Amino acid sequence: MESIDKEYVLNSYARNYVNFVRAKGATVIDESGKEYIDFSSGIGVVSVGHSNDRVNSAICDQISKITHISNLFLIEPQARLAKKIVKLSGYDMRVFFANSGAEANEGAIKIARKYGEIDGEVKRYKIITLKNSFHGRTISTLKATGQDKMHNYFGPFPDGFVYADDISSIYSLLDDHTIGVMLELVQGEGGVEPLDKESIKALADELKKRDILLIVDEVQTGVYRTGEFLASNLYEIEPDIITLAKGLGGGVPIACVMTNKKDIFSPGDHGSTYGGNYLVTRASLEVLDILKEQSDANLLQKRIERFSSKLQEIANLYPNIIKKSVGVALMRGFRIVDGDTLSKIVELSFKEGLLVLKAGRDTLRFLPPLTISDEEMELGFEKLNKVFHTISNG
Ligand SMILES: Cc1ncc(COP(=O)(O)O)c(C=O)c1O
Repeated sequence: MESIDKEYVLNSYARNYVNFVRAKGATVIDESGKEYIDFSSGIGVVSVGHSNDRVNSAICDQISKITHISNLFLIEPQARLAKKIVKLSGYDMRVFFANSGAEANEGAIKIARKYGEIDGEVKRYKIITLKNSFHGRTISTLKATGQDKMHNYFGPFPDGFVYADDISSIYSLLDDHTIGVMLELVQGEGGVEPLDKESIKALADELKKRDILLIVDEVQTGVYRTGEFLASNLYEIEPDIITLAKGLGGGVPIACVMTNKKDIFSPGDHGSTYGGNYLVTRASLEVLDILKEQSDANLLQKRIERFSSKLQEIANLYPNIIKKSVGVALMRGFRIVDGDTLSKIVELSFKEGLLVLKAGRDTLRFLPPLTISDEEMELGFEKLNKVFHTISNG
């Protein structure tokens, strides 16, 4: 299969050629029967674990009825899902459904740009993002992504994106042309770096005063990943625009942008053929039900505490390798002494049967399913300990 993949699929990923054939919960099995504990959730996607029975049943039921009709018609589970997302968020917003994080962020940029239009002309168009951000790989979201290395090819890019080094340097960039500030509250790809809560609250207040939109990219942080439904809830702010993807569908491709500018779009302003079809919205409704139940029953909180204390044990044991423990809830990382050691950890973990991720140059990243069992967590940390022990002993 590897040779077919190499011959026919464009070479855009540094792919590991293991062939996974089955998965359940936080356990993934390859074609040789080897089992892996998944501390990555397919990069934060399988929030309710692999092959979740309830999500599977919802999908099977839905595909036996109707899968797709187009957004030219009412899609009942889409309407129900929009209501559920808005109610869970606690904000007074409306939702547009897309298929990926980048696409949701494109929607956010369009909403901001339309809001910046005065008398038919886009007078306020500037969107400020952070240098260490990641917002996607379409042309606009690549440009919104502040990391220089992402802008090596693919130009010319759209105008109107400005990068700030950090939160405090955003203020001096705000001007009469600024329409929005777009942030991840915990920078995922940039190294699992949480932004400072008080600084964010102060920035949110200032933006509100100046009628500049606060756009929060919750593609990775959203849907209980940080313990609350949204990281925006955790940070106690009221953004104007929020984007979600990844964990929202538990494995089906669904994303959304939501905004308090409830009447911003008129028919024709924005659209998506697939966005929010029966299949994905029905699956997502089930995902949200499961996660809300787990959160209400305090199970999610207990899991977060358990995972955190296990991480702390490892961090205490290997201060020679781990410089710092970073992140929140089940979006976590270790800053590793250097990039080579980080690569070795990821490689050895894989051999040991543990799936972990890298973020940025020097961060080992953990995004376990939010429903991971105690046994799977225990086994995963045994494997991780073994890997660190091996590396620590040279
Ligand atoms: C914060 C953030 N925004 C946007 C994206 C892009 O999402 P997608 O790959 O679904 O387009 C990602 C993906 O990792 C992300 O972490």
